[in-house]
Amino acid sequence: MAHVNEHYLKLAAGYLFPEIGRRVSSYAEAQPDADLIRLGIGDVTEPLAPALVAALRAACDEMGSAEGFRGYGPENGYDFLVDAIREHDYRERCVEIAADEIFVSDGSKQDSGNIQEILAPECRIAVTDPVYPVYVDTNVMAGRAGAPDDEGRYGGILYLPATEANGFFPDPPAQGAADVVYLCSPNNPTGSVASATALGRWVEWALASDALVVFDAAYAAFIQDPALPRSIYEIPGAERCAVEMRSFSKRAGFTGLRCAYTVIPKAVTGATSSGERIPLARLWNRRHATKFNAVPYPIQRAAEAVFSPEGRKQTREQVAFYMENARLLREGLGAAGFRVFGGEHAPYIWLEVPERGSSWAFFDRLLEGAQVVGTPGAGFGPAGEGYFRLSAFNSRARVEDAIHRITTNFG
Ligand code: MLT
Repeated sequence: MAHVNEHYLKLAAGYLFPEIGRRVSSYAEAQPDADLIRLGIGDVTEPLAPALVAALRAACDEMGSAEGFRGYGPENGYDFLVDAIREHDYRERCVEIAADEIFVSDGSKQDSGNIQEILAPECRIAVTDPVYPVYVDTNVMAGRAGAPDDEGRYGGILYLPATEANGFFPDPPAQGAADVVYLCSPNNPTGSVASATALGRWVEWALASDALVVFDAAYAAFIQDPALPRSIYEIPGAERCAVEMRSFSKRAGFTGLRCAYTVIPKAVTGATSSGERIPLARLWNRRHATKFNAVPYPIQRAAEAVFSPEGRKQTREQVAFYMENARLLREGLGAAGFRVFGGEHAPYIWLEVPERGSSWAFFDRLLEGAQVVGTPGAGFGPAGEGYFRLSAFNSRARVEDAIHRITTNFG
């Protein structure tokens, strides 16, 4: 008999975004004339930048020629992309990353979900709360958590509340309280961003605790202040205790194309039960080579084009466009009396639900009253209750309309 992995049965409900999609579809079926504005899932809406389209086309033409055709690519990414990443995402920030420390993949969602596979089942996991659900769900699937309590906190996972009082970026717990911590900055869902000082406290904690930091920097391109760290490797010591994930999804419109990368410096190690230190890059490389067959060549050429002079200019304009949407949401809703956070270095607005009420009830009210779709804070963890996430990914006209509808319904 094929027994199932019963850890899956501990998962509370469906994955957050399909669950929202299901509720929205059933509303749309019942109200076919409703003109819905979708500010829920953080999916980009602007078309691919022309420099990227040109690179994609040229790569497809190459693939269609006898000389240019390519089959399986190198599983960790083509040198042209790896070198562009090293030069532009790291060297320009005075960080040196070796080519064999970069693993190109088809998404940070996958990488941040899969990284736990190379860690021992007994590793104690810490997450900020609210949190991107992938970090928690994948550890539950792997058996690192007990049943959820009444508020949805899984047993055995350490939840660190991200609150208004700590700027939605908690400090480390007691030394040794966890073996692995997941951090995300700029943060999904709260839109907060970690300063170098805040990240420094985490690096210090991880080194003292012999712990691993899984740092999700998928939204790094949205940071507006050059003094804020874009990479955890801007913090000395992080190259010994942190792995980092970056993505082309939001910075360059790749949610449908799929390209991202994970950095694992050689000095980042984990221990065997006998105390031997094993470089995590070695295990990740083994996993990648076994389970993955590289991002398609044309997609990697498009990702390379993100770093060309035109590609940089065009993708920066897109980021600026979304950040202007974020500013309008923040200021428009703030002026109407909502308490709003985030949206300054991230494409997410974290809104306090009036009277800190139920975020799912607010989701329903917003959907039914204003035909605006957002994401209930409770979907990201118990400490997200009383908050609501709005994404800045939409056209200017739709964002302005959403502000108008929300403020006239709730202002
Ligand atoms: C979100 O809305 O949180 C993101 O789209 C999730 C993701 O990038 O997977």
